[in-house]
Amino acid sequence: MPDNAVETLRWRSDAIEMIDQRLLPATVTYVRCDSAATVAEAIRSMVIRGAPAIGVAAAYGVALEALRHKDADPASFQASLDAGIALLAQSRPTAVNLFWALKRMRAFAQSLATLEPAQVAGQLLAEAHRIREEDIRINQDMGAYGASLLPDGARVMTHCNAGALATAGHGTALGVFRSAVTQGKRLSVIANETRPFLQGARLTAWEMVRENIPVTLVTDNMAGYMMRSGAVDAVVVGADRVAANGDVANKIGTYMVAVLAARHNIPFYVACPLSTIDLTLETGDAIPIEERDAAEVKGFRDCIWAPEGVSVRNPSFDVTPAELVTALITEKGIVHNETLMAGGLSSFVDSVS
Ligand code: MRU
Repeated sequence: MPDNAVETLRWRSDAIEMIDQRLLPATVTYVRCDSAATVAEAIRSMVIRGAPAIGVAAAYGVALEALRHKDADPASFQASLDAGIALLAQSRPTAVNLFWALKRMRAFAQSLATLEPAQVAGQLLAEAHRIREEDIRINQDMGAYGASLLPDGARVMTHCNAGALATAGHGTALGVFRSAVTQGKRLSVIANETRPFLQGARLTAWEMVRENIPVTLVTDNMAGYMMRSGAVDAVVVGADRVAANGDVANKIGTYMVAVLAARHNIPFYVACPLSTIDLTLETGDAIPIEERDAAEVKGFRDCIWAPEGVSVRNPSFDVTPAELVTALITEKGIVHNETLMAGGLSSFVDSVS
């Protein structure tokens, strides 16, 4: 990793440490988790967030729970592992990478059923390390495909944070930008602030500034003005779950940006690893949308600007219909809109898996 790369998660002295994303950019500090319960709480409370990062964290949660119970008899060990997996599965509902990682860890544990619990625990930790390393490689492969879509000098809008912080490293949408810059392209980024949690202002802007990639911060309601005034050449965002028909769930406000991009003939790209594609759901209508605490909308930290008693909605994600997606960028190649519209996403996934 380059010297200035963000270490989103790191294994230190028998625990997983995660950079506390609630405190960025003001404070860089790590939260230490040593059990499924502490990892689940870190995911729920947004210490760690972003679909791939949540998946990697959950894999470590399973391994940590196994290590905690490695001296138990096989039946109690299995019961503890199942309970830990169930707890992690309840932490957040929308990003499918969480469930993908839990399924992979459970299946791996089942394949080791003849071993002693201590050996299974050791193997599960090795599998979590592998998932973390694979995620970085996947993002680099995705970045190379995505960079080929961006011309030299492109001014690219992004929404939320799909960066190193949202993954084990490199990032999905921001990975595309990093790869383009590494290829020698001059690129500038327009970061939408991303109300209410401010992932764009706090995290995307921070990542880009510390790597000297030119970035301009705008509030979400400036996206239309920016596009209409000719300041945006492309949009690249990440995803939390993509349905079999190509509908994309991503951070709230993404749909609005996609509609605006279509109105202004600006390509709208979604960078997503295969682990974010959920072929079990026919369309985006079936994707569970997390509704978060009203406090996030009424204020930020100690500053509250809404009147007491006001009713609030806080859906944390929305669904962009496949028809508005110019292409999905995966680690195995680019899936263009024509393929999505022809119902070809699942054949693509089958052909590359
Ligand atoms: O609520 P968050 O911050 O977890 O939401 C994150 C996003 O919506 C990202 O865009 C998505 O997970 C892709 S991250 C590579």
